[in-house]
Amino acid sequence: MSTTSTPHINPNGAPIAKTVLMPGDPLRAKFIADTYLENVVQFNGVRNMLGFTGTYDGAEVSVMGSGMGIPSIGIYASELIKFYDVTQIIRVGSCGAMQRNVDLYDVIIGMSASTDSNFMSQYNLPGTWAPTASWKLMKVAIEEAEKQGAKYHVGNILSSDVFYNDDDSVNERWAKMGVLGVEMESAALYAIAARHGVDALGIFTASDNLITGERTTAEERQTAFTAMMEIALPLAKI
Ligand code: HPA
Repeated sequence: MSTTSTPHINPNGAPIAKTVLMPGDPLRAKFIADTYLENVVQFNGVRNMLGFTGTYDGAEVSVMGSGMGIPSIGIYASELIKFYDVTQIIRVGSCGAMQRNVDLYDVIIGMSASTDSNFMSQYNLPGTWAPTASWKLMKVAIEEAEKQGAKYHVGNILSSDVFYNDDDSVNERWAKMGVLGVEMESAALYAIAARHGVDALGIFTASDNLITGERTTAEERQTAFTAMMEIALPLAKI
């Protein structure tokens, strides 16, 4: 039971689990709760950023929207960790693939997250800090991906502040550095988790390929989404 209330989360006595799955879209959070969890209660509705707690295979787990971009996930991840004792956050989302060998619907596990954001400047470090996923979560996610026969890639992703970039050539330069795909949240999530000594991981499906120009349809995205969720949900049992 959480009686704490923060500026962006008001559980009104509903529980928040130690593990939170975070899709970007709050309606996606509702879909995940309705589809995969049992004994579901809603713990947040502030700004329609829906959050739910339930059980998966007997393990308590929460799922909440993060919104789009680093400022948004920065707020929710910080409040969940600092005020609600959350110890594992797993982002589940889509990303734009940046390598030719990453096919549409492939799963990408974000081992590290480069960024064009200035978010890290708050830590006043005299250099470039490398946002890194939790090894504990990543190891189990890879085991699950293997078990399910998913087509997956593990490596560096880009968390960009800019969806509509004025510079047409920027993707190619990140791609040359081996970046697998672009999304907009994980570097901040990894930093906040590291700063508080907790675990975070981003798992993605490739919804489009920015190098080849291929795109998925809505129905196809649903299939890929299922593969990603089947890797993410067992992490609640760690
Ligand atoms: N950019 C950022 N985030 C994304 C993209 C993209 O092209 N595709 C899916 N998520």
